[in-house]
Amino acid sequence: MRKEKIDDIDDITSQLTLDEKISLIHASSSFTSGGVPRLGVPELVFSDGPHGVRHEQGRGWFPIDNADDHSTYLPVGICLASTWNKNLANKYGNILGSEAKNRGKHVLLGPGINIIRSPLNGRNFEYFSEDPFLTGKLATEYVKGLQGQGVAACPKHYAVNNQETDRHNIDVRVSLRAIHEIYLPAFRVVVQEGKAWSIMGAYNKVNGQYATHHEYLNNRILKGDWKFDGVVISDWASVKDTKEALLYGTDIEMGTELVRDFNRPVYDEFYLANPAKRYIESGTVDECYVDDKVRRILRLMQRTTALSDHGTGKRNVQEHQEAALEVAREGVVLLKNDGLLPFNKREIKTLAVIGHNASRVFAEGGGSSQVRPPYEITPLEGLKKIVSDFCDVIYAVGYEPYYDKTLFRKLPGEAASQSREYSSKTELARSSNKELLQEAIEIAQKADAVIFVGGWIHGHEGMPWGEGTYDAEARDKMNLKLIFDQEELINKITDVNKNTAVVLMGGSNVEMDNWLPQTRAYLHAWYPGMEGGTAIAETLFGETNPSGKLPVTFANSHEEYPSHCIGQFPGNKTVEYSEDIFVGYRYFDTFKKEVVFPFGYGLSYTTFEFSNLKITQTDNLVLVECSITNTGDRKGAEVVQIYIHHKNPTVKRPTHELKGFQKIHLEPGEPSKVQINLDKSSFKYFHPKQEKWVLEAGTYEIQVGNSSRDIKLVDEIEW
Ligand code: GLC
Repeated sequence: MRKEKIDDIDDITSQLTLDEKISLIHASSSFTSGGVPRLGVPELVFSDGPHGVRHEQGRGWFPIDNADDHSTYLPVGICLASTWNKNLANKYGNILGSEAKNRGKHVLLGPGINIIRSPLNGRNFEYFSEDPFLTGKLATEYVKGLQGQGVAACPKHYAVNNQETDRHNIDVRVSLRAIHEIYLPAFRVVVQEGKAWSIMGAYNKVNGQYATHHEYLNNRILKGDWKFDGVVISDWASVKDTKEALLYGTDIEMGTELVRDFNRPVYDEFYLANPAKRYIESGTVDECYVDDKVRRILRLMQRTTALSDHGTGKRNVQEHQEAALEVAREGVVLLKNDGLLPFNKREIKTLAVIGHNASRVFAEGGGSSQVRPPYEITPLEGLKKIVSDFCDVIYAVGYEPYYDKTLFRKLPGEAASQSREYSSKTELARSSNKELLQEAIEIAQKADAVIFVGGWIHGHEGMPWGEGTYDAEARDKMNLKLIFDQEELINKITDVNKNTAVVLMGGSNVEMDNWLPQTRAYLHAWYPGMEGGTAIAETLFGETNPSGKLPVTFANSHEEYPSHCIGQFPGNKTVEYSEDIFVGYRYFDTFKKEVVFPFGYGLSYTTFEFSNLKITQTDNLVLVECSITNTGDRKGAEVVQIYIHHKNPTVKRPTHELKGFQKIHLEPGEPSKVQINLDKSSFKYFHPKQEKWVLEAGTYEIQVGNSSRDIKLVDEIEW
């Protein structure tokens, strides 16, 4: 930052009245915070969301119809994470920044980087992984790409926000070690390496204090140890106390629970509005706390298009849509294939496509991360585009979604009458689904091959946003059961047609034991964005060789996850993270628990050979080198994953932890050398009593593999 820039900030701050300073630190509309026209200080303009610039709401709280707000709908966060591709993550952020700038936004409210602790969290689709290292490295590239366009990233939700149930008040009880080893590292990396210009505070409490104004998280760690010089923006209505927000690091309050009538919002009633002014005028809180917030806000404005020229950006252009396709191609994960795939379109006369999700669009679902794209290619459209010159495509919806109150948690005060009304609708829907099932079986019987597309859905028909949503913000799932009777449908289809491939969409896995054994091929597609249907079709017919790898562990039932069998989920007023540091593969691998598909796993249509591991150790660095060869007959990509295993720790530690990865694209027969640097911090653990990272002497294995349970090469070093 140029010296005079800092002087400007000090100069402007010294000219501001207290009223003007206060106007800067809280919302002036639904998605803007105050400016000072007298001094040419503009309002800051915010927009969701993490995988596309959200539809326009202007200064109000509801979508503006027929606004010029179409934007590129990128694959959701967990699909981006499944690419394990840092370059793609940077391109993804760059596109978001260009489109946000084109829509006149200064801050994009993403990426969502909370750790996926339980598969039931309704927002897992927005997030990246169960692993903080993978999350941090990919999110850092996303932040760099986004901010390179002059739009501030706002990694969220800081911190330890891993459920939607009672999100505004739940008090997370978590150890200091788990905070530092699991829930903070991704935020540290996006701040220290990504140089994020803002961070969003979370709704929940952490060990008794609200995260958005948390003295330890904000003042001691974020702005202290990490030297964050950006702006802490609250989540919408996550500020609950004026004095704490003034003292403990909240810089801008957005949204509030205080305003009763959104059609008559009184922004002066916000915690950081008149109540804050009274604290300062009474001398209870020193004005220097407000001055620090103001300086941070002005610095953010100077860094962004608010006060600097970064050009106009582009929106809905072909290069953005092609990038959406590229991310989807590398983000879908082929989990099972006995050789059925890839299909050969020249050998199929009739292709049956079955499933509600084959023809459903998802962009506007999910909650605040919704996007209004110019188009969205469904799997059915993608398949028709690829094969219709060669074979007849017949479609049956197979099932229709219905409201089933057993499938998700009641919201407080949910009307009993509502569920009575919906239960009659449910019975109607389920009976009609029996007819739809028969129709699906009939077309499966007469087809040469079948593609079933099912899984989760975002919203729920007939229910307002936030009420009846299965796989979305504001609500967690009850379990991983495959909804809308899809298990029966899949089994009946595979009974009558052995050439059946299953494609599931959604932000998490589903229970698989009852249908996977008799399924020959399974592709998990997450919510793959506006070109997702194209990517799915290309993958099934071999025009794209899949290279996605799971960023989360797929176990069969939610009860097998440590957040459920050791810790609590979702708790009641408080939630105990008793599993501590053993989240995801750190639990399943350490305690040798069965999983269906492990962290880092994903199939390809080609094969790769790992060889020639060479470790070079210096005082502060470990260089890991190995060779990777594409030993198959088609080009493809592999992800080299580096895990660290401490052979003789004196403290409890996961059996191994991901500390390096690199994706490599290779032609058939092509060899390549991979080099990955591990610094000393890769081997440390957080000592809760000393409150610092410690490197314990001993022997460490360097494990090189292509999933947490498929280690190809091992060597050892001593510290
Ligand atoms: C929501 C979400 C947050 C979003 C914000 C603005 O409640 O928690 O992720 O950016 O409000 O819509």
